Amino acid sequence: MSDRATLSYAGQDYELPVIVGTEDERAVSIEKLRADSGLITLDDGYANTGSCISNITFIDGERGILRYRGYPIEELAEHSTFIETAYLIIFGELPTEKQLGEFRNLLAEHMFIHEAMRHHFEGFPPNAPPMAILSAMINTLGCFEPVLTQPEQDNRFIEAAARLISKVRTVAAAAYKKSIGDPIIYPRFDLGYTANFLHMMFCKPNKVCRPDAAVERALDQIFILHADHEQNCSTSTVRMVGSSQANLYASVAAGVCALWGPLHGGANVAVINMLESIRASGESIPDFVARIKDKKAHARLMGFGHRVYKNYDPRARLIKQSCDQVLSRQGIQDPLLEIALQLEEVALKDPYFIERKLYPNVDFYSGIIMRAAGVPLDMFTVLFAIGRLPGWIANWREVHLNPNARIYRPRQVYNGPTQRQYVPIAERGG
Ligand code: ACO
Repeated sequence: MSDRATLSYAGQDYELPVIVGTEDERAVSIEKLRADSGLITLDDGYANTGSCISNITFIDGERGILRYRGYPIEELAEHSTFIETAYLIIFGELPTEKQLGEFRNLLAEHMFIHEAMRHHFEGFPPNAPPMAILSAMINTLGCFEPVLTQPEQDNRFIEAAARLISKVRTVAAAAYKKSIGDPIIYPRFDLGYTANFLHMMFCKPNKVCRPDAAVERALDQIFILHADHEQNCSTSTVRMVGSSQANLYASVAAGVCALWGPLHGGANVAVINMLESIRASGESIPDFVARIKDKKAHARLMGFGHRVYKNYDPRARLIKQSCDQVLSRQGIQDPLLEIALQLEEVALKDPYFIERKLYPNVDFYSGIIMRAAGVPLDMFTVLFAIGRLPGWIANWREVHLNPNARIYRPRQVYNGPTQRQYVPIAERGG
């Protein structure tokens, strides 16, 4: 197969190199196109634009494949832990026992936030969205670092990564405690990453509680399944901000804001709101689906559809299994799960969804597990952010380690008024 593509325009041929990835993905490089022909490419929403060459995560959306650093998501979800997966995503290899032990020690060492940061929480109104607090507090964490780490220094970068991963969990739980008016709970040295998060979320100074092992495992698995997803909206944001040489904290804080939106990480909240509204209204599932299909309604089946997956999202399949296990183990019968199962069944048989290749995505069932774990609705996307942190860190590092790195700066096709003369205010009428 040719490693060049030819573009013909205005009677002239332009040769464009074809870049081939390790999974045989092919991309036409247009780096020199404008210089040679005056043309740029236009792809609103970047639906068919490769923004970088990356070694971190591979997705084949047609076949429903997701791999971190070559390892299938199914194997990691079954055998790995979030912390081991985080190490893999950031540093490229599964850690040895010694490396994992050292990483865990670093996480434990950095689990506390600076005492002065406790006062920052006082400044937010009680109903402040936790995603806003999280983003602000990640930038605040950066202010408490005397020297911000350079990604080239591997021995210090591991510490920077551990510090951020560990402290974000403490900040997230503290934000929740503040929102309900409870005292902030300190992390414990004897608990692992996810157990510690549950401890800080749900224990009280006068109530010792040991997180349920099944819930801990389900949540750890949710973190694994969210840990990276190549060039999605929030990761692209982190890379974009990082490309200006902005520090890790500033870049990740921007990623949190991007994740917040209901078309991205905020969909896990939107799914539960949608299921609740169906339950409250008593609307039949076929009627609801018919309403979604009516373009005039401008409604979407939340938790369905994906820019890249045109097949069942492998993460949704795993979360659905875990959902069944957690609910049956806890003896919970969640009516929202029943509604979700019916919605999926009806949608997957409907030509509208079949033709558009719309399947459940990662957010369709994740909220039901979080509800079962007692996580309040407004913390769902925060949990997504905790899970996505390794991916953001790895992508930020990749941008910084790229010897050919340039600031991210797309072009546009301007379609506004052409040049006109300034009109003094007295002559503008009205
Ligand atoms: N419900 C109903 N119709 C949908 C849905 C949906 N959830 N998703 C896409 N469609 C339809 C669109 O209306 C469009 O139909 P048309 O061709 O008749 O105009 C067609 O499918 C293609 O949709 P696009 O908007 O072009 O798809 P895009 O790739 O831009 O959007 C997205 C992907 C944002 C995920 C979309 O599917 C969506 O809004 N889903 C619901 C929100 C959601 O679950 N987001 C979480 C995504 S996963 C994540 O970020 C973690």
